[in-house]
This record gives sequence, C-alpha cells and structure tokens, in this order.
Amino acid sequence: MKSITCIEDLRVLARRRVPKAFFDYADGGSYTESTLRANRADLEAIRLRQRVMVDVSKRSLETSILGETAAAPIILAPVGLTGMQHGDGEILAAQAAEAAGIPYTLSTMSICSIEDVAAATAKPFWFQLYVIRDRGFTKDILARAQAAKCSALVLTVDLQVLGQRHRDLKNGMTVPPEIRLNNIIDMATKPAWALSILRGKRKTFGNLAGHVKGMDDVTSLAEWTNSQFDPALNWNDVAWIKSHWPGKLIIKGILDVEDARIVADLGADALVVSNHGGRQLDGTSSSISALPKIADAVGSRIEIMMDGGIRTGADIMRALALGARSCMIGRAYAWGLGAGGKAGVAKTIDILKKELDITMALTGVSRTADIGPQVLVNPQAMRAG
Ligand code: FNR
Repeated sequence: MKSITCIEDLRVLARRRVPKAFFDYADGGSYTESTLRANRADLEAIRLRQRVMVDVSKRSLETSILGETAAAPIILAPVGLTGMQHGDGEILAAQAAEAAGIPYTLSTMSICSIEDVAAATAKPFWFQLYVIRDRGFTKDILARAQAAKCSALVLTVDLQVLGQRHRDLKNGMTVPPEIRLNNIIDMATKPAWALSILRGKRKTFGNLAGHVKGMDDVTSLAEWTNSQFDPALNWNDVAWIKSHWPGKLIIKGILDVEDARIVADLGADALVVSNHGGRQLDGTSSSISALPKIADAVGSRIEIMMDGGIRTGADIMRALALGARSCMIGRAYAWGLGAGGKAGVAKTIDILKKELDITMALTGVSRTADIGPQVLVNPQAMRAG
C-alpha cells in the first residue's frame, strides 16, 4: 500500500477490486447527486488560516467522544452492506477502529451480525438502528445490542423512505449478488474479492436473517427490508426507544435547527449533522453548511458530530472549526476496505490522522480542543450562508 497517499487513491483501488454494483452502491448518491457533490464542494470552499512561528512541537489529536477518550476526532459511520465491499467487512472495520482507538458503528443493515462483531472485538462498539414497522423486531435487536455491550445507540432518522439511487437500480444491486451474466463476468475479474466473500462468515443481512419469520430466502429479505422501514416514525417514538435502550443515544440525520432543538430537548447525548452522505434528500444543504447554525443553537446543550464529504484531515479541521466535536466517515473507509481489507481501513484512518496533524501544525494549533473559528480565513461567511 506504499503508493496509497490519499483517500482518493483508496477509492481508485476499490473501484478496481470491488464488483461494480457494490462499488457504485458505496460511491453514489440519490437522484442527480447534487447534495453528494455539495458536501464536497462546500467543504473545499472553506479556506484555512495559515499561521506561522507558533510552537507546535507537541501536538495531540486526542479528544473525548461521549465522555470516552478517542485517539482522534474520527468515528467510523454506520455503512450498510460493508461486508459486500470485502468479506467479513464489518469485523475487519471494527477491528481496525479498535486498533486505532476510535469508535466503530455497526449498521442495522450489516452483513456480519452484532454477535459476530462482538465476538471478534474486545472493546464496545456502537450500534445504529433503523426503526422498522415490526416493533417486536426493533425491541429484540435493541436487546441484542445491549447483550453485546454496545456502548451507544445511533438512531438514524433521515431514512423513513429510501431516496432513489439510480446507479443501484441500473446495476440490479442485490444481496447476495444475483447470478447474471454481466455479474459473473464482473466478479470473475475480481478474484480476491470473490474469495474474501466466499471465505466470509455471512453472505446476507446478518442482523435480520434468522430473526425475522419466513425470511429464509435472502432476496425476499432484501425486499422485506425495503418495505419495512417505518414512515410513521416520529419524535414521540424516541421515548419508546429510550425505554428499551438505557445507554447513550445519538440521533443521526439532523440538518435543520428546529429539529436540532427538538433532539436537544429530548435529552439525547449527541446528534449527527448529516444528509446521509447525499444519499437521501437530493437538493438539500450540504452537511458542512448546516453545521454552524446547529452548533450555535444547541452546541452548549448537546454533543455535535458531523458527517458528509469528509475526505481529508483538513475537512475534519473545517468541521471542528464550525462546531463539531468529531466527524463520522462513511465512504472513506468503505473504499479502504474494498482496496485492502483491514489494512485498507487502517490506512484510511492513518491518512486522515496524519493530514489532520499536519493541518493543525500549519494553522498553529496543538490540541484538537483548541480548534475553533480562529483557524478559518472567514468564519462569518459560513454562519451567514
Ligand atoms: C451509508 N450511510 C448509512 N447510515 C446509516 O445510518 N445506516 C446505514 O446503514 C448506512 N448505510 C450506508 C451505506 C453506504 C454505502 C454509505 C456510503 C453510507 C450513511 C453514513 O452513515 C454517513 O452518513 C455517510 O456515509 C457520510 O458521508 P461520507 O463520509 O460517505 O461522504
């Protein structure tokens, strides 16, 4: 992995190694992908303030996330079907996060189950919940996450209905992959991927299979999942979730100040400013442009996390400068996994940490806690926008 120097290198390598349907599933966004692009464009437009001749000889990326020490302000976001980027993908990503000293979030829509990941890791990880119509299943999965000692619940609230992703429809993306002629040709040219999947523990949704009645056929399981997300979900349901989850609660998918105020009033421990990586409401704001107003409104009451478009350490600094305490990363580590399994995820984390460290030095900052609006050339511009 010597020639890999940045996240884009991992993306290029993942595109070579992972079958098109699964590469596109991770890479793409909904509809015209305008929000996907805005996440990147708005981050890149924020200029950092170069400062010189400051003693930056003792730097540290260490921070605290939900009261726990973390080696860097980075969290691996919940990413569905991670185990289709590489066999046992969730286990490998969780292990890489554990080794790096940062939190890992397991998606409801993972390939490896909660129990698989718990058995393969030593430290607690976070669990992300999609609430489906069958509240019995939701109750059970919360009990399973508790039994697995998950240390926080990430409740994702921006996917009551699915934003259409054209690429997935065009590719006929299914789990497990459908045996069609073009798929066979594609997979035949990705032997390392095919082997990793064959050797992997599971080939379908590990958290759902065997826990849902009449769902032995995996294709119908995927359909079932699509039709089972609960569009009736609303703020009143949070109390019910809290009654089944005594631990820390993070609400993910907040883009509006009014919604952020509700989350803070509900007593959640953290919120994630997020548009689901440009995969849901196409045409909505970039996460970074929504962040400052939310941080100003509720940042003193609730811990703020942010995701969407983070590809460099400088991006993490931009988010921290505008009020986030930490950033989740999605695609950056999905590509790392596709490019090189566990070592690829470790590489993703390492690249971002090193970039953040150098960015801190060149902006005259030694501790992540000292990153604030002073590192930006024009901090007011973002607040006005
Ligand atoms: C996601 N995301 C996501 N979020 C969630 O709460 N549950 C999930 O199962 C998934 N699945 C998922 C799959 C893939 C392939 C991607 C790329 C994303 C959203 C994810 O947690 C996060 O919000 C975004 O990925 C952040 O944007 P970047 O870092 O990918 O630009």
